[in-house]
Amino acid sequence: MSFGAPSSTSLVSQPSRSAPLHLDAQVFSATRADHAAIYCFLKSVFKSLSRAEFASSLDDPRYYPCDRLLIKWQQRIVAHAHVVHRAMQFGSVVIPVAGLQWLAVAPEYRGRGLGLMLLEATQRYMASCGAMVGLLRTRIPHFFRRAGWAICGRPNYSEACCQRIMAKLLERRLLRRKGLLHIRPLRRWEIPALVRIYQQDLLGAYGPLQRSEAYWRWLVDRQAFDVLYVALEGPDQDDMRVTADCIVGYAVRRGEQIVELTTQPQRSDVAIELLARCCADAIEDDRRYVMLHTPPCCFLHDLLLQAGGVHHYQAADQGEVLMARLLDPLMLLRLLGEQLHARATAAGLPMPMEFGLAVEEREYRLCLTREGCTAQSGKVGLYKLRLNIADFTRAVLGDLDWDCALAEGRVVPSTLLAEQMSRVLMPTVPLWRPPLDDLPSLRSTDV
Ligand SMILES: CC(C)(COP(=O)(O)OP(=O)(O)OC[C@H]1O[C@@H](n2cnc3c(N)ncnc32)[C@H](O)[C@@H]1OP(=O)(O)O)[C@@H](O)C(=O)NCCC(=O)NCCS
Repeated sequence: MSFGAPSSTSLVSQPSRSAPLHLDAQVFSATRADHAAIYCFLKSVFKSLSRAEFASSLDDPRYYPCDRLLIKWQQRIVAHAHVVHRAMQFGSVVIPVAGLQWLAVAPEYRGRGLGLMLLEATQRYMASCGAMVGLLRTRIPHFFRRAGWAICGRPNYSEACCQRIMAKLLERRLLRRKGLLHIRPLRRWEIPALVRIYQQDLLGAYGPLQRSEAYWRWLVDRQAFDVLYVALEGPDQDDMRVTADCIVGYAVRRGEQIVELTTQPQRSDVAIELLARCCADAIEDDRRYVMLHTPPCCFLHDLLLQAGGVHHYQAADQGEVLMARLLDPLMLLRLLGEQLHARATAAGLPMPMEFGLAVEEREYRLCLTREGCTAQSGKVGLYKLRLNIADFTRAVLGDLDWDCALAEGRVVPSTLLAEQMSRVLMPTVPLWRPPLDDLPSLRSTDV
């Protein structure tokens, strides 16, 4: 399969520095036979890429070799992009999404349009696979911005001294379930318990990815963490007959970072015990601080703040940002129709009514009636909002700071009612996804 303009000319061995290569270049889908060459290419660009990390990308349960798009020059790979297929929980809706990873152009071929050409082909491929939103993490947002990507979502974590956390837990007498709760590393046959607990926590969340049992097995096997603890209820949990039903929570630790901590609903006691266990580990390893990654609304952030910690919730974390691109905005608005209708009903918006979104050259019309909400493209009526593609992306995905965008004149409502409608239909939500899905493997063995 090819995605670029058909190649027609002969390829010269040393393209001149100023030649616009993308006029001749073609984008190809990779095959299994390309894997070895792809690894060598990626290793030459990303020095930190390990063989184990590359091997684990091939083991992703939804991986196909054609998810890698290549540009070749005289049989040699000069550019590469990898698409991963995921599904994102967004309130009551599940959105098919695609992640973009390892986009790279060989250094000697950069600055000739190949990067942008491959990015556009990748976006078409994502959309052809049914994804409605593209996701990536990057240090170079300017490059992606021109192709319609917007900074959207942010990491959310708190950092505090482990000894002060332990002191705070003791002072508040929160550690009192000794003997009733047992915390130890996961055993492989207990993975169904992780599926169950994660799934319970997923309902109504905005941003986390869906995880099937096969996906969980892949996550566990790729070992992007030092230890995955499970918390089991009951006094005698070393017994081999213990079942996965006894597991009431888990925590994933990577160095000083607690990259995920999830429990059954209403089990704050379990969350505290898991936090304490990770802090005890850190103290034993001679680490001073822990960083806790949990959703913005998690009560543990307050606890770390009370222990003298700091809360980080900014778009750029160590130079890296999360970006999103709407691949099919109309289909996405249709998928979100029920959610939009529920928000309009709850806020008592007058119905029937029409609301328009004028996004650069495109216009979308939402028609709300008592029965539901439909989305169409086309002329916008009286109540409308004019905005650029980046703010549109953030508004639809619940990550727009409305006060700031209005004050800066980036979003322009036609009337006061149009502003109220915008805020009701596309409110800010706690958009967040745990970092575990994206962390590089720590496996050291060569494969
Ligand atoms: C990022 C990368 C893929 C761009 O490839 P490229 O072939 O040089 O890109 P293009 O020639 O299509 O550049 C298109 C535009 O993006 C700009 N651009 C290129 N690299 C950029 C960067 N690192 N940061 C910001 N803008 C960049 C170019 O200046 C050009 O703008 P112009 O048209 O105004 O001159 C390439 O630099 C690369 O492989 N970098 C190392 C790997 C990497 O960082 N990948 C991203 C991982 S998320």
